[in-house]
Amino acid sequence: MAKTKMTVPDFKKFKEEGRKFAYVTAYDYTTASIVNESNIEVILVGDSLGMIMLGYDTTVGVTLDDMIHHIRPVVKGAPDTFIVGDMPFGSYQESPEQAIRSACRILMETNCDCVKLEGGAVMAPTIKRMTDVGIPVMGHIGLTPQSATSVGGFKVQGGTTEGALKLISDARALEAAGAFSIVLECVPSVVGKAITKSVSIPILGIGAGPDVDCQVLITQDLLDMYGNFKPKFAKQFAHIRAEMLKGLNAFHAETLSGEFPTLEYCFNKQVEIPQED
Ligand code: KIV
Repeated sequence: MAKTKMTVPDFKKFKEEGRKFAYVTAYDYTTASIVNESNIEVILVGDSLGMIMLGYDTTVGVTLDDMIHHIRPVVKGAPDTFIVGDMPFGSYQESPEQAIRSACRILMETNCDCVKLEGGAVMAPTIKRMTDVGIPVMGHIGLTPQSATSVGGFKVQGGTTEGALKLISDARALEAAGAFSIVLECVPSVVGKAITKSVSIPILGIGAGPDVDCQVLITQDLLDMYGNFKPKFAKQFAHIRAEMLKGLNAFHAETLSGEFPTLEYCFNKQVEIPQED
């Protein structure tokens, strides 16, 4: 049975009803279609595609065109799942006008359901302008990978009272600016819980402990596909990389032995072929 696609108002409704949901990434049609068949409610086409799909060291080199290129097939593959299009570095920091222009390109050229951008209170005026003109915006605070270099890498955030209070005021500023939900990345669980209690919009936690409204993971992390880096918070629910290696090596072995292809995998129509002299 097809699942019912979430809407923007559903996010707040789910929180009010204490109803949890789950959120993963996808960057291509095939993965999106598998997520669409699952019970997962939300897909993020994240700029993490720079690292996961393109092999970059950070997300900073991802362009608006890259994002649009990857969001389109995900929208096609997952018609029953709410789809978030990430705004890449450099596409919204300059001014609210730039952010509106970039968000409009993402929404109009891909037909995804909302955009997401990184940053706390400093981004509130931009988010306010965007939401005032009808752009649904998901915020992202805590560890914000686009600016990870400025804080010394991919590190836990909000680890002091001052840092935690700053994150709470960031979350409140984003809610007041009209964001309909907020990704909260890499913070101590007590901070995740405090932020979740401090706002009425859902907190979507990735490495933010159990007391958030929704859990987010990168699909390649949770399925153990991405070999290079395993964040502490990324539980592996399956081991697809090992399965893929098993399949690839079985194909290789049967190719070398001649076991593949058997008749079952061949076009067996008889065709008269004259002998050449
Ligand atoms: O780009 C991304 O995948 C993200 C997640 C880490 C939330 O922003």
